[in-house]
Amino acid sequence: MKERIEELINLAHKKISEAFSGKLLNDVKVEFLGKNGSVTSLMKGMRDVAPEDRPKFGQLVNELRAKIEKAIADKEAELKEKELAEKLKAEAVDVTLPGKFSEEGTLHPITLVKNQFIDAFQGLGFEVFEGPEIELDKINFQMLNIPEDHPARDMQDTFYITDSILLRTHTSPGQVRVMTSRKPPIKVMCPGRVYRSDDDATHSPIFHQIEGLVVDKNVSLCDLKGSLETILRKVFDSDDIVTRLRPSYFPFTEPSVEIDVSCFECGGKGCKLCKGTGWIEVLGGGMVNRNVLAMCGIDPDVYSGYAFGIGLERTAMLKYHIPDIRMLFDNDLRFTKQFK
Ligand code: DAH
Repeated sequence: MKERIEELINLAHKKISEAFSGKLLNDVKVEFLGKNGSVTSLMKGMRDVAPEDRPKFGQLVNELRAKIEKAIADKEAELKEKELAEKLKAEAVDVTLPGKFSEEGTLHPITLVKNQFIDAFQGLGFEVFEGPEIELDKINFQMLNIPEDHPARDMQDTFYITDSILLRTHTSPGQVRVMTSRKPPIKVMCPGRVYRSDDDATHSPIFHQIEGLVVDKNVSLCDLKGSLETILRKVFDSDDIVTRLRPSYFPFTEPSVEIDVSCFECGGKGCKLCKGTGWIEVLGGGMVNRNVLAMCGIDPDVYSGYAFGIGLERTAMLKYHIPDIRMLFDNDLRFTKQFK
């Protein structure tokens, strides 16, 4: 009997030591300690043992069972530890490796300048109104007091889609769309993309403008000057800027003006940027022509208004010293990344 027990314990130890997974170890457990396992069957053999030897026999078998159970438990613990060590090794993070960085984007200079204008306008109570880029000839020209065959059409070399539909040549049709859909008081800005068949170092076939329009009772050219001075000081980042108005001509305003700012580089002394004059031309504007008000259903004897149009590319070029308008459209990262 002793030999049988010895044999079993040796066999169990061998099998336990060879079990390299929880599954195999469990098989060993079943093989020895299960319902039909070898230790259990040994116990069942008690019947054939002489009564006086039974206590001794029972004790031996119980010791055997206890030894095998302990060996299995030890092995179980060992396997678990090994498994954890392997898992930790597989998931190890090398903290000395360089990290993954996502590059920070930058706003395009035209977007920057547009946002600066919108901020400044909103500070004065202007609302944003955006019209369509594909526009009717009637709204882009005729209702702005530019009839067919008017010589002023030559100033805006136009992309026509049909005889009556075109790509808007300026943001001024935004004025018509606002005035025909709302009653005064009106105070809006219309930022947007515009199109002209023009292409050189200072002109692009696609460019951007912001239109401003104020219609109310008793609006005058002084309001235009005062508001624009406030806006331009913010955008060009200088409280010393002053504006000057020069007579000009636009069919949709009367009187019409070109608006210059005192040079924000040299303070008006004269430098390369202002070509020695101390002044920089930045936009056109004027008092909304009575015909335009009337065509839009607003009584010009009761209301008056001022309007103006600013080129965003020109503003960005002046502000950031960009020598060629095409740099704004090349999308060269070495250029665009500079505008953090
Ligand atoms: N639409 C004009 C242009 O593109 C700019 C302009 C001038 C707009 C005078 C105005 C204005 O509203 O009053 O050249």
